[in-house]
Amino acid sequence: MLESLSARIRKQLPRKSVAYARARSLFSRHPLPPGELVPLDELEKSDRCYLLHRGQEVGPIFKALCWGDLWVCIQGIQRCRRFLKEHGDHLQPTTISVSSLFPKGFIRQMSGDVHRQYRQALARAIRPADLTGMEGELSEFIRRELAAYATAQGAAAPTADAYIATLNKIGSALLIRAFYGVSPGSEAFDRILAGYRNLGPFGLVWNIGDRQREAFSEIRELLLTHLVRDPSRRPPGARESILGRLVDEGPVDDTMLGNLIYMVEMGRYDTYSLFRWLTKYVGDHPAMAERLARETVTDPGIGGSFAEAFVLETLRTDKSERLIRKVLDDVVFEGYLIPRHATVRLCLWEAHKDPDVFAHPFQFDPEHFLPSSPGNDEFAPFGLDQHVCPLGDMAIRMSILFLRALTTRHRVVPAADGLPVLGPYHWEPASRFAVRLEPRTPSATVR
Ligand code: HEM
Repeated sequence: MLESLSARIRKQLPRKSVAYARARSLFSRHPLPPGELVPLDELEKSDRCYLLHRGQEVGPIFKALCWGDLWVCIQGIQRCRRFLKEHGDHLQPTTISVSSLFPKGFIRQMSGDVHRQYRQALARAIRPADLTGMEGELSEFIRRELAAYATAQGAAAPTADAYIATLNKIGSALLIRAFYGVSPGSEAFDRILAGYRNLGPFGLVWNIGDRQREAFSEIRELLLTHLVRDPSRRPPGARESILGRLVDEGPVDDTMLGNLIYMVEMGRYDTYSLFRWLTKYVGDHPAMAERLARETVTDPGIGGSFAEAFVLETLRTDKSERLIRKVLDDVVFEGYLIPRHATVRLCLWEAHKDPDVFAHPFQFDPEHFLPSSPGNDEFAPFGLDQHVCPLGDMAIRMSILFLRALTTRHRVVPAADGLPVLGPYHWEPASRFAVRLEPRTPSATVR
């Protein structure tokens, strides 16, 4: 189709963020950060280290373009934290817009007292140690799903999609259990899971459409019917869940309920994509897999275990990337003007590749976290300000459960792999990455 003249002119005009920055810099005593306006979104796709090298060339604060808009990248954890502390009031986290589904929107975009109120209520309800109580039931579920995958693969070549579907189901089940207290195998669980499959059949849907509105209402109604309206009829275990505790504390409003529904929706993607990376490293390092399988730890949250170090190393190498903030007013940081309308990218992945902290930054080595983890100014996979991930500890515990279920029963054999790719939201293992799960035969070699 021929592009209309006005569309072509629009494309060639600089975006508001770029035009504003140029105009504003003419009258400012402070220069814009250094750096050519190169297209980061394109360059990063073909070179994952692009920003790291760019920072080494032009300095830890530099500008560039992303999808045509002005972006400012900031490197170094302490510098990023200071930026957020000094200018937090003029920044807004970028996240999915769900305000058409429930009032006040998603917690990530709340600020001030409203954010504090919902955040504190959540903090009281989230008890990562609950997972210890559910460990037997959840491990059994994970083992069943992995065994079903291993059986279904038969003699055929394993596919990436089949394994993703298995991980998606496992991640969803862990979150549904932890958030709502509903166990796999029950009718309520099947209906809630079906609702989530309608909400985002192939991953998180960024632009809410009719399908999401319908699925959201369906899940909301299920939760109200089974868990909220008449607490005395809740299924066993439902009280020891995040929603269960909120219900016991007082009325759960539409904003809180909507937030829980969307936390599980976003968390499903976070969890299964982390499990995918974990599987890749288990497959790549058979001696580590053997060590994981042999480790006996009673509490999956206990620090210092090899499994925990394995999860933290996976977060460091691949799963924690950046924080994004929209700039609402001009700010000056370290002498540079960071203009309104710009987007700031606080670079975590790059910070986690500091050779002074991690001896071999590009090597997967859980020993980076043994016998203890680096401090908060050196490793911060879950964020840097009041929006820090409230489910970080829970995500680590779930990953440990997953790793133990995977390695005690199976040998993970990579069947297809390639270079990591930049997916719709995050870096992922190669699109064709697939594994065969074979029965484990314990070996005597432990690293
Ligand atoms: C799997 C690994 C995970 C990683 C690496 C991760 C990372 C992060 C990071 C970096 C932030 C801060 C975002 C910012 O400051 O802009 C964050 C916030 C958040 N995360 Fe996670 N997350 C993970 C899992 C989860 C899961 C499983 C859930 C929910 C089920 C979740 C729910 C949230 C929420 C609600 C916030 C916003 C909190 C607030 O604004 O107060 N995360 N996460």
